Amino acid sequence: MKKHIAVLAGDGIGPEITDAAIAVLKKIAEKYGHEFTFEPLLLGGCAIDACGEPLPAHTVEHCRASDSVLLGAVGGPKWDALPGDRRPEKGLLGIRKAMGLYSNIRPAKLWSALADASPLKRHLVENGVEIIVVRELTGGIYFGERGVCTDEELGETAWDTEKYSVKEIERIARIACELAEKRTKRVVSVDKANVLESSRLWRRTVHAYAEKHYPDVTVTDMLVDNAAMQIVKDPAQFDVLLTSNMFGDILSDEAAQVTGSIGMLASSSLGDTACGLYEPIHGSAPDIAGKDVANPIATILAAAMMLRDSFGMTEEYAAIERAVEKTLSDGFRTADIMSEGMKKIGCREMARRIAENL
Ligand code: IPM
Ligand code: MN
Repeated sequence: MKKHIAVLAGDGIGPEITDAAIAVLKKIAEKYGHEFTFEPLLLGGCAIDACGEPLPAHTVEHCRASDSVLLGAVGGPKWDALPGDRRPEKGLLGIRKAMGLYSNIRPAKLWSALADASPLKRHLVENGVEIIVVRELTGGIYFGERGVCTDEELGETAWDTEKYSVKEIERIARIACELAEKRTKRVVSVDKANVLESSRLWRRTVHAYAEKHYPDVTVTDMLVDNAAMQIVKDPAQFDVLLTSNMFGDILSDEAAQVTGSIGMLASSSLGDTACGLYEPIHGSAPDIAGKDVANPIATILAAAMMLRDSFGMTEEYAAIERAVEKTLSDGFRTADIMSEGMKKIGCREMARRIAENL
């Protein structure tokens, strides 16, 4: 197959980890007879530096015209003082919105070779953990109305709005139910329905939709504060976790840490077409940028998800997953997942070894 991949390396460790993923993709192309082309595009802080805005129109156009997008990470202290609508993160939110990527899937799985990297007691994770966070990505408080004002009584004041429509809730509920059908047929839907009106609509809508269209899927509700507790108390109880934009942002970091390191967690963002955006869930880690110590595995797994979910290359996906497993079980670790007796290697060498194990 011929595929054109847009690459948004971004800031901080972004260029190193996307280079690592490209090295693995090139090996896949060679092995399976595909032709992948890679087009670097600007997003985030590097785009601000080069063209004065975090999401140049050229980037949007070329991402839309690509077969899929691979993204590193954006942001860094250099741009922290900029106003909210000109920050690097605004570029990331902008590209998600511009491409209509409302469905964000974040699988947090405990790799058997990394069982010791989980901060939880062994008995809580020894039978395996795999939490698939299905996060709504283009609505809610991330995109609701916001503002700053000076209130007569209160002084300087700022506000953001959590807003969801039935249509937005239904389309993400469908993604979660479809996934659950292929797995344990259980969805835990997260909300704060004891306080928020938007959560009460979320809860009603998810149930009505699932009962009508996916009668064999069981939906259980969980308040977000309880969900945060349950993830560390008994992570194995979860399979598909359906969340709003902000709750999914928070809970996916927590789920990632439960499985060892945020450096291992990949994500896919899709809308109604096969062209998606694939990225690690971690940030740009400016403190370790350029030192060749970052963990590229999340980005490599994101590239694998691209092969499976955008290009239908299930065998190639499985090959990358096996290569990661093999590299880990051979004892190779980047600094973030290092433990006693293992062999510490850098970002480039990790990618090279994974490619070699394909
Ligand atoms: C993520 C990140 C982003 C988000 C930031 C960088 C805007 O934390 O992908 O989880 O909050 O969605
Ligand atoms: Mn996040």
